[in-house]
Amino acid sequence: MTQTYISDIAAQAGETVELRGWLYNFRSSGKLKFLLLRDGTGIIQCVLSKKEAPDAVWEASETLAQETALILRGKVNQDDRAPGGFEIWLSDLQIVGASVDYPITLKEHGDAFLLDNRHLWIRSKKQHAVLRVRHQVIKAIRDFLDDRGFINFDAPILTPNASEGTTTLFKIDYFGENAYLSQSGQLYQEPGCAAFGKTYCFGPTFRAEKSKTRKHLTEFWMVEPEVAFMELPELMELAEDFICFIVNRALDRCQPDLEVLERDLEPLKRVQKPFPRMHYNDASKLLRDKGLPFTHGDDFGAPDEEAITAGSDRPVIVHRFPAAIKAFYMKPDPVDPTLSLSMDVLAPEGYGEIIGGSQREDDLKVLEEKIHEHKLPREAFEWYLDVRRYGTFPHSGFGMGLERTVSWICGIHHIREAIPFPRMIHRLKP
Ligand code: 4AD
Ligand code: MG
Repeated sequence: MTQTYISDIAAQAGETVELRGWLYNFRSSGKLKFLLLRDGTGIIQCVLSKKEAPDAVWEASETLAQETALILRGKVNQDDRAPGGFEIWLSDLQIVGASVDYPITLKEHGDAFLLDNRHLWIRSKKQHAVLRVRHQVIKAIRDFLDDRGFINFDAPILTPNASEGTTTLFKIDYFGENAYLSQSGQLYQEPGCAAFGKTYCFGPTFRAEKSKTRKHLTEFWMVEPEVAFMELPELMELAEDFICFIVNRALDRCQPDLEVLERDLEPLKRVQKPFPRMHYNDASKLLRDKGLPFTHGDDFGAPDEEAITAGSDRPVIVHRFPAAIKAFYMKPDPVDPTLSLSMDVLAPEGYGEIIGGSQREDDLKVLEEKIHEHKLPREAFEWYLDVRRYGTFPHSGFGMGLERTVSWICGIHHIREAIPFPRMIHRLKP
């Protein structure tokens, strides 16, 4: 018999089907056993009756335990009282793989224990839902960019240079030379957009973040579009359209998963254009007016971001951060050169920065000076300077953190649950 997936069960009402999966939970009431089977696409209740099942099948069912791998056969019965509206009346049960003392039971476990057992924890309902949303968000990201004519242009992970400051670099020995794990694929998108007009990379990036917060991973995924001849105002529009598309897609395709997560959908439905834009100077003033201990010129901390988004039901775009706290490649604001043509998108509901981007410095001389000022090794950037030597052009781009975006859409507290196997300062396993 061919396998039927639980997600397709409605089409098989009244038929006898074969399901393959794992025992999620079970209970017995004397002559009836209720098995909850999960197969990755869903969970369904299966009923085994002592009276109707062959003796061998009933006997086999006596050894069932949580997460036993099973092949089950039975008739699909539509029943509104059953969870999901269907249940299976079993005629056959075959144990494929036993499961002895499965460590994650349905009772509460501590965070450290669950993270140590991440390889099993992903079978649990909520974790499963978050990672399914992640899958849809990834697809939405690619659909949006591909449909707008962007070319997927992969950036290397082993790199000779830093892009986002030298304090969070993971250094490795590359055949006797220093190399670094990529903090961002941006520097490689810039020559990419000179070749293709619009490009993006989407891959893992690495930062040796020593701070333990609920928003920082040391390995996270970032999508980075870069567009030739685009300037800051259009970049903000691109970011806005991008986020609206992704959130809409999640509302469209992830409702069952968001329900499992008990996510309030109303705030997500309010994520619509236009997002408020706030000049850094105005954001700074707002923070001081609210009485926060914020020093003008500094970057925002989590409480600052929360205060900035507090009055808004949609993401807020803060633009023109001080050049001194931003990366070397950002173009200064012609109106006030101590500021940069940069922008961050801050998600509401306390999630904070999900996007960081800027218009890039396109003047060779200025960029050479910046590299010098930031004490970066000039040789490692010669190729990057070539983009300014041979037909320089205004261009802009941003990076969106996948896990922060997924955390926000799912409404989960900690970013570590938005990636299959999180890496943080004190966690390198499993
Ligand atoms: O603001 P960031 O540092 O920007 C860049 O790396 C640019 N080069 C991107 C570009 O213009 N192409 O990082 C971009 C985003 C942040 O807004 C955040 O969502 C995410 O990456 N991010 C992290 N996510 C999880 N853990 C961390 N440690 C993160 N650091 C940044
Ligand atoms: Mg940033």
